[in-house]
Amino acid sequence: MAVEPLTIAMPKGRIFEEALDLMRRSGFAIPDEFASDSRKLTVTLPEAGLQFFLAKPMDVAIYVEYGVADLGVVGKDVLLEEQRDVYELLDLRISPCKMAVAGLPSWKPAPNPRVATKYPVIAENYFKSRGEQVEVIKMNGSIELAPIVGLADRIVDIVSTGQTLRENGLVELEEIVSVTSRLIGNRASYRMKNTQIQKLSDRLAEVVQGSETIDPNRERSTVDS
Ligand code: PRP
Repeated sequence: MAVEPLTIAMPKGRIFEEALDLMRRSGFAIPDEFASDSRKLTVTLPEAGLQFFLAKPMDVAIYVEYGVADLGVVGKDVLLEEQRDVYELLDLRISPCKMAVAGLPSWKPAPNPRVATKYPVIAENYFKSRGEQVEVIKMNGSIELAPIVGLADRIVDIVSTGQTLRENGLVELEEIVSVTSRLIGNRASYRMKNTQIQKLSDRLAEVVQGSETIDPNRERSTVDS
């Protein structure tokens, strides 16, 4: 009996290359035409029983929650922000970075503080847990601009290499949480396609834990049984 392929939503952008590399090291021969900067948004590997598609990072968990994708690769930052009803199956330990509060080196507490961020839920929860009242302003990117031009006195954002903060004369003030990418699963898919999902997840876990490379030609090269 033909088995339906597993569909995996992959995030465009900074996580993509590392996620692709991890998939390849796990033995999945994903063609080069599937690239973060390409216009091609889907690729199917019939022998492996897999279909990948490319989504905006913030949307990956939505596709998985609604079951359009069985699985997804997504940063912990997105999971904390979006709070989608999905299973978190595996820490892939790729794209490590942190969520932090940052500001100008001269920052000091002042009345009516404003915080700019792409992550309003994380920011609200963080400041609430500290008992600090702030006005959170939701932005869509280039957050580092906000303290420079005086829109906000602090930001909550991802810090990876720290280069964007440095180049804009900002400093990290507090770390909120460390972030890596996770394998997530749709709840119904996890029951209906459990064997396939478990096999794929085990295979990724082997590579994640051992930094080992699996031969794509070895016997266990499909996840459809
Ligand atoms: C992210 C984040 C920071 C930057 C941090 O932005 O929002 O701006 O990367 O990385 P770094 O510490 O290595 O400099 P992204 O490039 O995703 O674009 P955005 O500004 O549109 O959010």
